Amino acid sequence: MQSADTWDQVDRYITERLIPQDPVLEQALASNRQAKLPSYDVTPAQGKLLQLLVQMHGSRRILEIGTLGGYSTIWMARALPRDGQLVTLELDPVHARVAKANLSLAGLEERVELRVGNALDQLAEMEREGVEPFDFIFIDADKPNNPGYLQWALRFSRPGTVIFGDNVIRDGEILQEDSTDLRVQGVRTFYDLLAAEPRITASAIQTVGSKGYDGFVLGIVTS
Ligand code: SAH
Ligand code: DHB
Ligand code: MG
Repeated sequence: MQSADTWDQVDRYITERLIPQDPVLEQALASNRQAKLPSYDVTPAQGKLLQLLVQMHGSRRILEIGTLGGYSTIWMARALPRDGQLVTLELDPVHARVAKANLSLAGLEERVELRVGNALDQLAEMEREGVEPFDFIFIDADKPNNPGYLQWALRFSRPGTVIFGDNVIRDGEILQEDSTDLRVQGVRTFYDLLAAEPRITASAIQTVGSKGYDGFVLGIVTS
């Protein structure tokens, strides 16, 4: 049985070999720490994975729910073509301010629209604005609202849209059907909706690394 320390060291090993040092991404993480944002950012290896998925898929329009300091945003937005767009939603104005500065340092102000407010309200507002469907949707905000986010993601999808969700294993706590943790219940309902939804085909992958034991859901909208 390997320990969390091994997972962390292996994550470093992977990062040192496969992820080129990048002053902008490193500065973004430093700014997030400096501003005392919670360290919920994806890891470098996960950020690169997000970027590869966006590249593989040829996504031109990305929706991110849960910006924090914009670390995952930078990884994904950099894989967009010049005329691509990423819309990212963040509730906390302090997080949003740090993210704005990080995105500006990354030179991504034109390609990224950061909308501040409750994501469920922002999504309803986007629908009223007649938003175009997205190609790739990353769900990574407050987990109790995951069921609502999935429903909006479907509304903003077209056949072929990829839906990617973070933190869907939670140290294995998702097994606890009677959990009083609303995040666990949000994620469990998210799985139930995916299971019952004929318009999505999905899988989930368990991960270990510097953020411990967690995982991702990956789905594709079929119709
Ligand atoms: N995707 C980021 C991490 C996001 S952490 C990265 O990997 O770099 C989750 C974020 O969701 C936090 O910044 C939190 O403030 C935000 N959040 C929480 N509840 C929210 C809500 N109701 N609407 C929008 N954002 C919310
Ligand atoms: C939490 C949220 C995240 O998005 C994450 O990647 C890790 C932890 C949390 O709310 O605990
Ligand atoms: Mg997360």
